[in-house]
Amino acid sequence: MPEITSPAIRWNGETLSLLDQRLLPGQTHWLTLHDAASVADAIRDMVVRGAPAIGIAAAYGVVLAARRLGDGASAATLEDAFSVLAASRPTAVNLFWALNRMRQEAAALTGGPLITALEHCACDIHTSDQAMNQRLADFGVPLLPDGGCIYTHCNTGALATGGHGTALGVIRSAWAAGRITGVYAGETRPWLQGSRLTSWELMQDRIPVTLVVDSAAGHLMQQGRVQAVIVGADRITANGDTANKIGTYSLAVLARHHGLPFIVAAPLSTIDPGLASGAAIDIEERPGDEVRGVHGHIIAPADVRVANPAFDVTPAALISAIVTERGVIHSPDADKMAAHLSDKAQA
Ligand code: MRU
Repeated sequence: MPEITSPAIRWNGETLSLLDQRLLPGQTHWLTLHDAASVADAIRDMVVRGAPAIGIAAAYGVVLAARRLGDGASAATLEDAFSVLAASRPTAVNLFWALNRMRQEAAALTGGPLITALEHCACDIHTSDQAMNQRLADFGVPLLPDGGCIYTHCNTGALATGGHGTALGVIRSAWAAGRITGVYAGETRPWLQGSRLTSWELMQDRIPVTLVVDSAAGHLMQQGRVQAVIVGADRITANGDTANKIGTYSLAVLARHHGLPFIVAAPLSTIDPGLASGAAIDIEERPGDEVRGVHGHIIAPADVRVANPAFDVTPAALISAIVTERGVIHSPDADKMAAHLSDKAQA
């Protein structure tokens, strides 16, 4: 296989390298990983994050496990690797989608042919993600108000995906088409994906970005400085309910109050038709120290009780449109989601 690289993920045929997103934008440091357990640690510890990127990394984690097993690689001997990777983070369904695809590859083969098939599959998951995001962005651009300024949350860019990005991909394409005037990026406490990653990505592309604290969103909307909100997703259920970074739900409520479009951009791999509604989504609870401190600097009493849900669920009723690489679902509900996922829609 040729080397496969994207802004945060590199596969060279033997090892997986991940850009350590915990250190951005201050340091650009790549970690090289050799086994599935280290990939699972990297996902859990936020070296790599963002739903599609987690799925890509996990797929390569399975390849690393298979390479270690060599002639002994089989669906049965890979089971430990699948389990350790699946236990890394619970909310983003792309992780489980990617592992399921890899599991299907592993079903009928063993040894060398299995390793080759798994590597092909992981590389395909990686490279096709960027192409899907480009298609998704083409569908998403017309949803943004012409001449508008757009609010986004967390990081949904090239760092969170195989390239271009989901919500940030729509923003990139909209800027290139001259459709939008600029972007507000919410800083996204506690991991600061908005300030550390989104503002960094947008500045590299020379897209005008203004960084704000998360609690500024309502004020900006009230003042007419935002014309639409666009975010990514970690899991979209059969009825269109959407889990995304904590704070997304509040933005959707605010957007509805101010009559602004609230758009979700995500690949089909983020849709989980197996869950009826957002109430069934497993919301990751992360360590309290992520809230008590910032980069090792203590900002709260050491023993204060903390709740740190990493995601929240936005009900479909608050979503103006979900955009995927297949098109747009306006005012999503269970019927429209099912129609979007059906074979007929694909044809
Ligand atoms: O905790 P993170 O940084 O993995 O959360 C990421 C998000 O919530 C993103 O908005 C989502 O994964 C979409 S990324 C294209």
